[in-house]
Order: sequence, then C-alpha cells, then structure tokens
Amino acid sequence: MHNRKVYIETYGCQMNLADSEVISSLLSGDGYEMTSDLEGADLILVNTCSIRDNAEKRIYGRLGEFKRLKNERPGIIVGVMGCMAERLRGKLSAGGVGRVVDLIVGPDEYRRVPELVARAWHGEKGIAVQLSRVETYDDIMPLRTSGISAWISVMRGCDKFCSFCVVPFTRGRERSRTLDSILREVEVLSGRGFREITLLGQNVNSYRDGGCDFADLLKNVSGIDRRIRVRFTTSHPQDMSEKLIETIAGNSNLCKYIHLPVQSGSDRILGLMNRTYTRGHYMSLVKKIRDAMPSVSLSTDIISGFPSETPDDHRRTLDLMEEIRYDGAFMFKYSPRERTPAYEMKDDIPDIAKSARVAEIIKLQNGISSEKNSAHVGKTVEVLVEGPSKKSQDEWQGRTDGNKMVIFPKGDASAGTYIRITISRSNSATLFGSANVGETTSVVEAA
Ligand code: 5AD
Ligand code: SF4
Repeated sequence: MHNRKVYIETYGCQMNLADSEVISSLLSGDGYEMTSDLEGADLILVNTCSIRDNAEKRIYGRLGEFKRLKNERPGIIVGVMGCMAERLRGKLSAGGVGRVVDLIVGPDEYRRVPELVARAWHGEKGIAVQLSRVETYDDIMPLRTSGISAWISVMRGCDKFCSFCVVPFTRGRERSRTLDSILREVEVLSGRGFREITLLGQNVNSYRDGGCDFADLLKNVSGIDRRIRVRFTTSHPQDMSEKLIETIAGNSNLCKYIHLPVQSGSDRILGLMNRTYTRGHYMSLVKKIRDAMPSVSLSTDIISGFPSETPDDHRRTLDLMEEIRYDGAFMFKYSPRERTPAYEMKDDIPDIAKSARVAEIIKLQNGISSEKNSAHVGKTVEVLVEGPSKKSQDEWQGRTDGNKMVIFPKGDASAGTYIRITISRSNSATLFGSANVGETTSVVEAA
C-alpha cells in the first residue's frame, strides 16, 4: 500500500505556520507523506484562526469544499486544527459540519494527532482540545519546506488579555521553551544553510527561561551564526525593555525591524482595550527605539471601530500614524469575539462606519509607505535572496534587513545569498532594482 498522503492548509498568524510544521513532522515520523495536492490527499488538515469573524467564515467555506471531496472519495479524513478547533469544538462536531469533520485538535494537543488519525481510519471521531500550561513542543524538530527562512516558536499562549482578543482563550497561558532547545534548533538550521530565522510567540517579549529573558535569548541566538538574520514577532509595547532595544541595536544580524502593535491612538480606547500603556508611553518607546537605531523599520497593528470609538478617537489614531510614520501596518475592523471582555460592550459602531474608518487608515498608511519606500530610490540595499518572484520566473525577490520586499532581474543571484541591489523605483509595498555589477554574492560580514 502507498504511504497515505497528508495535505495541510494553514490560516492566520505565523504561529500557525510554525505549528503546521510541527504537525507535519509528527505525521511524517509516523509514515505519512506530505502533499501540496488537495485532490490526491487521504488526510486533509486545516489549521485555523479565530482572531476575527471573517477568518472563521473563510474556513467554514473551505469545509464546504472538503465536503464535496468527501462525497467523491468517502475514505478521506478531514481534521480541523488550531484556534477554531479550540473555540468551536461543539459546533464543529455537530450537524452538517460534524459529518465533514473527523478530527478536532486544539493548539496544545498536536502530539495526539498521529494516534487520533490512526483511529479515524477506523471510523472513530477524535476530539482533543485540552489547553496546557507546559506544552511547547520543545523536542519536536518542525518539518520545514524552505531551505532559507525558518520560524522557531519560542513561547506559546498569552497572558495579556487585551479586551478584544480571543487568543488567551484559544491558545491558553503563556509558557516559554527552554533556551537550550532553541539554541540547539538554531545550530541545526545553521548547519543546514538557513539564512533567516524568525522567533515567534504571541508576546515574545515576555519570554523567560530561569534568569534568561528575551534580550538574552536574542543575543544567544544571534551569536550562533552571524550569517543568519534574526527576526522576531510579536512584541507588546509594555514588555519592550531598554535592554532589549540595546541588544537589537548592538548586534548586526538582529534585524532592525520591529513590529509593535499600537491598536489605537486614543488613550480612552487604549484603556478600554486593556493595553496597559498610554499613547505617551508608546511615543516615548518609539523615540527610544529610533534614538538607538535611526534606520529601524517599524510596523504596527490597528483596530478600527472598537466599541464606543468616536470620530475624535479615530482622528487620534490617524494623527498618531502621521506622527510615527510606520513603514507598514496591518489594519482591521473590530470584530466582537465571544468570551472576551469587549464582547460584553456594545458593538455600537455600524459596519459602514468601521469600513469608512479603516479605509481612511489604509489610505493614509499606503501614502506613508509609498513615501518611505521612495526614499530608497537611488540607494543601495542589501537583500537576502529568496527565489523567483510570485509574478515571474525571470524576476527574483528578496528582503532587506528592514523586511522590505525587493524585486530584481535574476542575473546570477542564487537563493540564500546576500546581494546588493540599487533601487530604481518603488511603490507602497515593494522596491524594484538591479544587482550591482561584481557584488552579486557578498556575504554579510561578521559583527
Ligand atoms: N477584532 C479585530 N482585530 C483584532 N485583532 C485581535 N483581535 C481582534 C478583534 N477582535 C488584531 C489586533 C492584533 C492582531 C493580531 O489582530 O490588531 O494585534
Ligand atoms: Fe491578543 Fe493582546 Fe495577547 Fe496580542 S497581546 S495575543 S492582542 S491578548
């Protein structure tokens, strides 16, 4: 009999992408073969996101598609993993959806996937949704497909309880992996030629292993192989220490790129969101970061239309954006989530007003991103080459230290090397340029 084939589709944050690599590793260790071909799969897993209602709606749409496949090939198994499994276990196991879904596995129960799948072949439905205070999948080497960029999850869960956010309920309490296990993984990746590592967690700044904090972790990781760029996400402004800022500033291969979600520019709304900082604190943090690293790229997350947000609160968000001038932003309409404190507040901003506000925010940010990107025209940037661009085989793509996408003619560039590109034009999302003659394979120097 051929090895059974597994197809995994992943939605949501980078943590989910990293978790899918853990699931893939567990299943391939159990004799399964991974496939990117949905139609040929024996086992279909969807790793899901609950952060906003539209994320969940999309996944229900996908389950409809899987139902069609199951009708054609009744032997296949469909599993829902991740945050929706945790949040909607009852709904997913009942009614019409319940007939499509054979497995429901929450974020802390992936070790049980092989066992549950084995039982599912015999017609047994499986539900595993316990949250854990200790599970970090420390000892599991994720199955990675790229040979250049890797995610490493360093902590799981979140204890911040921002009033709008479902994550503390779907991913449970904060816990960190051991420093040793992370460093060992980085050594393996270095040996395999990886050139970029992103340390992941819902709130990486609260990483802790004994006396070792996130700044210590970053310093240790960056010292293993100076040819590897190190990134991290996501940071909560409250836990962004001066020590951490100095550590990033002082190590050449720690990327000068910080994603620092602000959510709103209004102190009143920040209070209702339980963000635990004021606009003033946030601004002084940004000043400290920029004083230490004048060329740093900053990005953020913003929510529009939180309960009771007035036009004046909205204006404060716009003027904060103008004051800070982020390099990029992820901008969302507020979506009420059951069990969160904000769910108890009246969702009183009509959808049409949320849409208008978020459109204004996006327009402002696109203008700022375009202007900031155009400042690179005529300059030379160092790019880690990733491979062919999404649009054409002749053009390749890579990223700057500040996480900006750069498109250039392939020339003699090869994936996983650093090259210097002179930028000739730009738009709000991308820089375009060509390699400097004779400098195509320069490697980043050791710090
Ligand atoms: N509605 C809209 N956006 C949300 N986010 C988290 N919860 C919600 C919600 N209920 C956004 C925040 C967070 C990002 C990952 O998603 O901006 O930083
Ligand atoms: Fe959600 Fe806030 Fe935790 Fe981020 S810090 S995962 S927004 S509760």
